[in-house]
Amino acid sequence: ARPVSPGRYEVTQRVAAVEILPGLRTEVWGYGGAFPGPTFELRRGTPVTITVRNELPVPTSTHLHGGVTPPDSDGYPTDLVVPAGHSSHHSHPGEVLHPVTKDYRYPVEQRAATLWYHDHRMDFTAPQVWRGLAGMALVRDDEEDALPLPGGERELPLMICDRSFDEDGSFRYPDGGHHGGAALDAEYLEGVEGDVILVNGAPWPVAEVSATRHRLRLLNASNARRYRLRLSPGGRFTQIGSDSGLLAAPVAHDELPISPGERYDVVVDFSAYPVGTAVTLVNTLADGPAGNVMRFVVTSRGRDDSAVPPVLSRPPDRPRPVATRTFDFRRTDDAWTINGLRYRPGAPLARPRLGTAEVWRLTGDFHHPVHVHLAHFQVLARNGRPPAATDAGWKDTVDVRPYEVVDVLARFDGHRGLYMLHCHNLEHEDMAMMADFEVI
Ligand code: C2O
Ligand code: CU
Ligand code: CU
Repeated sequence: ARPVSPGRYEVTQRVAAVEILPGLRTEVWGYGGAFPGPTFELRRGTPVTITVRNELPVPTSTHLHGGVTPPDSDGYPTDLVVPAGHSSHHSHPGEVLHPVTKDYRYPVEQRAATLWYHDHRMDFTAPQVWRGLAGMALVRDDEEDALPLPGGERELPLMICDRSFDEDGSFRYPDGGHHGGAALDAEYLEGVEGDVILVNGAPWPVAEVSATRHRLRLLNASNARRYRLRLSPGGRFTQIGSDSGLLAAPVAHDELPISPGERYDVVVDFSAYPVGTAVTLVNTLADGPAGNVMRFVVTSRGRDDSAVPPVLSRPPDRPRPVATRTFDFRRTDDAWTINGLRYRPGAPLARPRLGTAEVWRLTGDFHHPVHVHLAHFQVLARNGRPPAATDAGWKDTVDVRPYEVVDVLARFDGHRGLYMLHCHNLEHEDMAMMADFEVI
């Protein structure tokens, strides 16, 4: 991405060959020809326009996940940027086609948070993200800048995802990803998982760290894989933020369950380990190589003037809900559905009012990481009981476990218009587990 002028960026989606596995070339479809794409630095109160140019062989739609974004820049699945000379054989009613470029406008009137962006094309999100169309975006603000949190080299955005590879190094996806979600069969009920874990596009990377506090912004950008992250040989994560910004106060965790689309903002104090220690970030939900995510090697002592203050922020208060609605995520014979319905663009299942809050009861038959566009929410209860410590804060994605009832309090602020909620298991999303809601 290059800044064209203040507040304006341009990024070209293109095919590129990169080295992910040693000595092999992998073709990626990347923002800026890179995987992950560039990390966008956004500042609260400074609107930006990002011009996306599509030089890929397929249409795309770019969504800023966690963004409080006007609907025409939110990456609606049928609001597509089409490459030059493209003739669509997958047209959908109501489709909007932008030839070659589109300007996405982000007002950035939201709290500091770890966001990300990725493709959101109808029926093809999973294969297109798998091929590389994703990157991170950090929103900063004065409230956060005033805190003594670790920064600079001691702040590490970590985009974690899994991929499979063919022998020649190319990404392996069922069907080559040419037929969209509808073509996936029973074998992929749980979505598509890879056997190689990548962090910022690299397998099993090492970060050299001094024996000081570091801020890790963890994102699960996998299509379908869930992780339970731990530090080995032991150690704690001090959580300072969730999907939608800083917590009111830090919370310590031994492990972090993270489902696709979720983020945790944590501080790890590497002074707890002797110099020379290799600290592994492990995933206790997987055995073998997929159980190892990355390593930190503590290389030296270091001066540390950072701190995690006991009060981090004043997040928005919990508003009083004006309505309760249920969204049931369930598999039928030929699709993944919400309230028994397959996704149909332009047919909203709910019409919340701007400036109000509602309780959304999320239920399901499987693991479904449920993501809501525009709105941020707090988890109120799981199966009628208080939520887990790791559910703290304002979020936009929550893992609904098999046969669980998760109540969230969602606030609808910022913009009127058509938005989506969906399962962030991208194969489920492509197989119709998405619904519109309209903020009125
Ligand atoms: Cu991260 Cu609608 O998606
Ligand atoms: Cu989103
Ligand atoms: Cu799902």
